[in-house]
Amino acid sequence: MNTSGIFISFEGIDGAGKSTHIDGLAKAFEAQGRAVTLTREPGGTPLAEKLRTLVLNDAMDAMTEALLVFAARRDHLQQRIEPALARGDVVLCDRFSDATFAYQGAGRGYDLQVLSYLEHLVQSLGRNDGVLVRQPDLTIWFDLDPKIAAERLAGARIPDKFEAQPVAFFTRVRAGYAQRMQLQPHRFAQIAANQSRETVWHDVLQVIHQRGWLR
Ligand code: TYD
Repeated sequence: MNTSGIFISFEGIDGAGKSTHIDGLAKAFEAQGRAVTLTREPGGTPLAEKLRTLVLNDAMDAMTEALLVFAARRDHLQQRIEPALARGDVVLCDRFSDATFAYQGAGRGYDLQVLSYLEHLVQSLGRNDGVLVRQPDLTIWFDLDPKIAAERLAGARIPDKFEAQPVAFFTRVRAGYAQRMQLQPHRFAQIAANQSRETVWHDVLQVIHQRGWLR
């Protein structure tokens, strides 16, 4: 059995419905004897969770937001993701850097080149030449029309800073994800999230099977 670490991230606009599928995949991998690290961004370590509370609730400019999510990511990578991958875990991460390009970049209009620079800096693996940059082996993008997402979110719970954004914001975020996929198509799987939960789950499993990660 393949026991090298696998890093999978999950992306999409708020309301796209990724959570149940992340939990489902964790159970599916565990059922086949794999150790799973289930985590999220911003967050995943005590420090990064503190930064998450700030980013999701406090008003700040886009640069501050970008710096805080990358600071959280640095701690998360060092303390949690890299050790888990080194042990051979399957790391399932609810959002990663693509969210920064989509939300802070496309959504809030922050400079994509600066984000790329920060990405290289933060995700470099103990080398300073910036050559080896940690990226997910697979990114599952739950793609949904922002209008449908807004209907799903309406009344579901008290919205955080991002969930309270208008449809136009999420239209830009969605375009941001599309652009990321265009730049790195090999690691992306786009899933139509407007289907029934069962069909979406079927599609998720198919992507994992195609890569030979589940029997
Ligand atoms: P989300 O993943 O939707 O969690 P929950 O389901 O608990 O609300 O919330 C994280 C929010 O943070 C989401 O609105 C996107 C935002 N975010 C960024 O703006 N930039 C980032 O780099 C990351 C990782 C998340």
